[in-house]
Amino acid sequence: MRDLFLLDPEVTFLNHGSFGATPRAVFERYQAWQRELEREPVDFIARRLGPLLAEARAELGAFVGARADDLTFVQNATTGVNMAARALRLEPGDEVLSTNLEYGACVLTWQRLCTFVQAGVDELFEHVTARTKAVFVSHITSETALLLPVEEIVAHARSLGLTTIVDGAHAVAQVDLDLDALGADFYTGNCHKWLCAPKGAGFLHVRPEWQERVDGAITSWGYEEPATFISHTERQGTRDSSAYLTVPAAIAFVREHDDRDRCVALAREARRDLCELFGTEPIAPESMVLQMASVRLPEPDVDLNRRLFDDHRIEIPISDDGTLLRLSIASYNDRADVDRLLEALA
Ligand SMILES: Cc1ncc(COP(=O)(O)O)c(C=O)c1O
Repeated sequence: MRDLFLLDPEVTFLNHGSFGATPRAVFERYQAWQRELEREPVDFIARRLGPLLAEARAELGAFVGARADDLTFVQNATTGVNMAARALRLEPGDEVLSTNLEYGACVLTWQRLCTFVQAGVDELFEHVTARTKAVFVSHITSETALLLPVEEIVAHARSLGLTTIVDGAHAVAQVDLDLDALGADFYTGNCHKWLCAPKGAGFLHVRPEWQERVDGAITSWGYEEPATFISHTERQGTRDSSAYLTVPAAIAFVREHDDRDRCVALAREARRDLCELFGTEPIAPESMVLQMASVRLPEPDVDLNRRLFDDHRIEIPISDDGTLLRLSIASYNDRADVDRLLEALA
């Protein structure tokens, strides 16, 4: 598997979670789209791009359990969260309820727009007030790498009449998604993490009743009538859409090489080994761990990432406060990678 990726063979790469990694064949498809664009830029952008993007959305929709026209491509999950948050038209004093495990950039997004209330997952709904407008939750959290019960959270929030926004940055291709069944008002995901698409390929899924209120990240030609949710959000001035067009190739790759069960088993095994080495307790039950596992260090060490990279050529992230080490297991990782990490840490 390792040979199918472009990764540096000198590096033990245990950080698929941050920015993913693209297989050679998928990257070649990406570059082929770029070449096709440059061969006849006007024909490609002005005539062919709309239908090509519609085809790519249809394939992504089938993969994530959504109607193609409820999905729009965005550059990344951060953009998706920003677009969803702005669509809510929040007013001063409006509250958005969330967990205390959210991704920092998204926390900043919400804090600029509302009173952002963060609480423990188990006690989340104890913090609902008359001002609560929406619930925002990650499907798989960032630093703590935990699979959250989003089905339950979305269903309960909807029963209370609250709008739901799910940040699925890490969930696409780690979890089998059925977005229509999940029923969140907004769900954003990244294709450039676990789906292994080139960087800059994300999507925002919006329930039909919200689509009219969603603005594109910028206002462009897609606002000329007749306009739709897709035209508002997809037409973003002159840009290279090759990463979006490559999403079907990434879907084909992960389908062909699906070994998530092995990856999850190895991530859980490595978590047990790391907890034993550090003498620390698991941060959550094993059922919340998929292909990423975060483990508490015996003492905070913000510099550990740098030392592991400089001295051992091991790429693995440490949380900002230095308390957690997060391991990712992708299809190209095996037990030998974990053993190298354990040896270096010891
Ligand atoms: C939970 C979560 N949300 C959002 C993001 C942001 O992803 P991007 O930088 O692709 O927008 C990340 C990135 O790691 C994440 O972990």
